Amino acid sequence: MNIHQINLNQLKGFETPFYYYDLDLLNETLSKAKSAADKRGFHVHYALKANFNDRILGLIQEKGFAADCVSGNEVQKSIEAGFSASQITFAGVGKSDKEIVLALKHQIFAFNVESIQELLVINELAKENGVKAQVSLRINPNVDAHTHHYITTGLDENKFGVPNSELEKAAAVLRGCEHLELLGLHFHVGSQITDINVFKSLCVKVNEWKNWFEERGTAIKVLNVGGGLGVDYYEPDAHPFADFEAYFEVFDKFLERTAQQEVHFELGRALVAQSGSLVSKVLYTKSGVKKNFLILDAGMTELMRPALYQAYHKIEKLGTSENDKSLNYDVVGPICESSDCFGKEVSLPESERGDFIAIRTAGAYGEVMASRYNLREEIRYVYSDQI
Ligand code: LLP
Repeated sequence: MNIHQINLNQLKGFETPFYYYDLDLLNETLSKAKSAADKRGFHVHYALKANFNDRILGLIQEKGFAADCVSGNEVQKSIEAGFSASQITFAGVGKSDKEIVLALKHQIFAFNVESIQELLVINELAKENGVKAQVSLRINPNVDAHTHHYITTGLDENKFGVPNSELEKAAAVLRGCEHLELLGLHFHVGSQITDINVFKSLCVKVNEWKNWFEERGTAIKVLNVGGGLGVDYYEPDAHPFADFEAYFEVFDKFLERTAQQEVHFELGRALVAQSGSLVSKVLYTKSGVKKNFLILDAGMTELMRPALYQAYHKIEKLGTSENDKSLNYDVVGPICESSDCFGKEVSLPESERGDFIAIRTAGAYGEVMASRYNLREEIRYVYSDQI
């Protein structure tokens, strides 16, 4: 059920703030993404980091997605949620020995390896544990994702991936590592990418690097092009789905590959963002000297994106009528930080204590990034089929 279809009296039964998850929308999003990928023979790993809420993860697993993890706990969680270990990728620049051993014991599909030193450590730990690890080399393609600098990952100045200048050495090291098997190459240029040309540029780089390895006699079975597909934070109801068709089509068209070479994706945000809203109540209204403030019972502790990345989220009053007079508000939370602000000069129908406010497109990197700062309560969530 869309957040606007909910009867406010029903909402009153739940303590705010909470994440509201529209499971119908999630289902539809997953179906669209899966069929667009399936018809091109593509494999999609869901990036757990975007949201690992149990029901959400369960639905994603049931739909047949694989998993992409960035910690030992995510690997463990995805296995508990029913993902098969042979569908799990494990990325990250700082995998600890404990995390590597856990993933080795489960015999996951692939470690996305980010440095030569990491290759050597995984090889050593695989040897100690009497197993062979499948690895993909993460290459930094130096493609500008044209997104917020905090979520750009594929530029030379970012910490991710094996620097291009070291690839020759990495290939040699791999040849000497008996407990590693090179599956393929891994790339990820950033997140919330809305310019489809960025993915075209990525394809060009992937083709170049694949050829580079093949020319040196290294077989590449898997091309993992990461995630990053963006969503519309401004008009979530007009554009509830990312354009999965256009996205996968770019790779289908521009990625050079043989019939045996698999193409893998790691989508997070585009699969879950629009299905979640943070629902909050107005605690106080305040007219400052220059500003009107709406003080909510949700803050940066529940949704950190505006404070951390100056991210825009659409803010709406629930249950408004056409005739309400509008005012400009700074919509803020209760946390003792000036950055605890969801939006400045937001035009909203005049609001009062007790009104419900929804902060939209919060299904990705919302609940998972919540914190207990100020000893806030544990995050709450409500699923659409509970209402
Ligand atoms: N693969 C790798 C290697 C990644 O680093 C990421 C995201 C993904 C896949 C999934 O990307 P997506 O499809 O969700 O764009 N907290 C930030 C986003 C951080 C993204 C980190 N990496 C935010 O709230 O915008």
